[in-house]
Amino acid sequence: MSRFVIAIAGASVLICLISFRWSFEPIPKTWDMEAIKKFHLPPPDSFVNVEYAPEAYYNSLQEHVIYKTYPVYLKEFERPGYLDSLRTLEPEIAFDPQKLKTQEDWVKAGELVFHFPVASYRPINGKVSHLEESQFEKGAGKFTADGIYPFNRYIINEKGKLIIGSHSCASCHTRVMDSGVTITGAQGNVYNPTGFVKNIQSGSIPFAFLQQGVKQLAYAPWAPETFRSIPSDKEELVSSLLELPGGVADRQGYAFLYPLAVPSLIGLKDIKYLDNTGLMRHDGPADLMRYAAFNQGMDMLTRYNNYIPLGKKDNAELPPPAEWNHPFGYVGKRYTDAQLYALTQYIYALKPPENPNQFPKELIAKGKLVFNKAGCITCHTPPLYTNNKLTPVNGFEPPADHFKKYDIFNVSVETDSVSALYSRRATGYYKVPSLRGLWYRGAFFHNGNLTTLDEVLDPKRLQPDYIPSGFKPPHLKTMAVKGHPFGLDLSEKDKKALIAFLKTL
Ligand code: HEC
Ligand code: HEC
Repeated sequence: MSRFVIAIAGASVLICLISFRWSFEPIPKTWDMEAIKKFHLPPPDSFVNVEYAPEAYYNSLQEHVIYKTYPVYLKEFERPGYLDSLRTLEPEIAFDPQKLKTQEDWVKAGELVFHFPVASYRPINGKVSHLEESQFEKGAGKFTADGIYPFNRYIINEKGKLIIGSHSCASCHTRVMDSGVTITGAQGNVYNPTGFVKNIQSGSIPFAFLQQGVKQLAYAPWAPETFRSIPSDKEELVSSLLELPGGVADRQGYAFLYPLAVPSLIGLKDIKYLDNTGLMRHDGPADLMRYAAFNQGMDMLTRYNNYIPLGKKDNAELPPPAEWNHPFGYVGKRYTDAQLYALTQYIYALKPPENPNQFPKELIAKGKLVFNKAGCITCHTPPLYTNNKLTPVNGFEPPADHFKKYDIFNVSVETDSVSALYSRRATGYYKVPSLRGLWYRGAFFHNGNLTTLDEVLDPKRLQPDYIPSGFKPPHLKTMAVKGHPFGLDLSEKDKKALIAFLKTL
């Protein structure tokens, strides 16, 4: 009996320790150079020497102050006087680490960080929103059922003044489903390039400046000479932007005309490598904090041999923080470690929404059998539906030490290798993506060339006369989407069952 009591007492002490571990566990340090080096995979070309911005530089950056922010509505949904009413509000600092006691507090605070815009700040002086529903007609971008455009938010950091900003995590990681349901953390599809495209077309941004911006985003010094990293004319840039389907982004470090599919962040805690190319390892919150810091500005300050994308003096020197000239308009600040830690807790807590797909039980059971028999299970292993491994691409031979350091499944799936060889995110690999949440994704394979599972399993996509429904470089009328030949030869019936099963994951 007494042993039982002691066991219960012990268990409750443990529970207390778990719920209050925040007061004991120190917040990890983001810019820890040794950890940063371990966390990155090297470029596929061993002649490239990579150096990350020094700790002193990182520490010299101003910290983001996270104010309360407000949604941007489309004109048709905005209540009269909304913008003026915002201008009457006091600035309110929303993130205060001193006030965070419980795990729930940290998750809620992380949500604020997730939605806080960190780029392209500009004043808004008008009376009503400039965004109209008609600008969304072509299917470019989505707004929520209540008319919110999640790519931007308003910030008030000075009374009477309204600022709009973008590039919060939510701006690329929010999905609005056709049903109108919004899924935070899923592969995003809200970005609407039409405003930017209008500015390009009107000439209000000089083309040479845009070319330089694309080069900063896309140039990898080791890519072959024949490989273009800038658009040749305005039209090519415009059409490459309009060609982006929802869920695909020209994220910095991509290769020009090879944009990247946005992964879902739901269930991220179990995912071992981040990015399509597995550029960064993920062993816990500290790594995810580093991921966010790099991707919200710092990766443009990494030195590749003698080239720093945002560098001054022929890209050779780090720019003073006030002189960041980031093509996306990042403001030369950094998140605090507490903000980043909270962000990770929010991301880890993201839950998948209820799956609306209803299929007969027998069909799903049959689909599961097909999944196992067709060999999908080797790479997309349940319960994560990924074996969390990296597959080398055509044209890359993993060096011997990689087999000790990384989790490699040494079979190439033979999809296009450009992003894995000639971009700054290149590693020589594509990771095996998880198939959980396929039903709230609409851009498949690393460049998002395909938008449906039927297409993924259609052998016609291997032919040069194929017209993919997803991203295709604008100068091409047709294009083969090569590789990943699995399941292409299944009967129509088996495919139907397989797709039903995949949509339940
Ligand atoms: C401009 C759009 C954009 C913004 C803003 C953005 N992301 Fe992403 N995110 C992407 C794209 C595109 C990828 C895929 C990149 C790749 O594969 O190389 C990605 C990948 C990721 C991944 C890797 C996930 C995986 O499974 O591979 C994580 C984690 C992530 N983003 C978190 C964040 C967080 C946290 C923020 C805010 C601090 C953020 N992102 C802001 C577009 C964006
Ligand atoms: C040898 C390992 C391997 C096998 C076997 C395999 N896959 Fe994959 N799968 C991958 C890799 C790697 C990718 C990413 C390829 C890329 O982005 O270029 C992928 C991507 C996918 C995607 C796109 C996911 C996304 O978000 O982009 C789907 C869907 C998919 N696989 C389904 C299947 C099905 C169904 C089968 C069986 C018929 C299967 N896979 C067999 C390795 C594999």
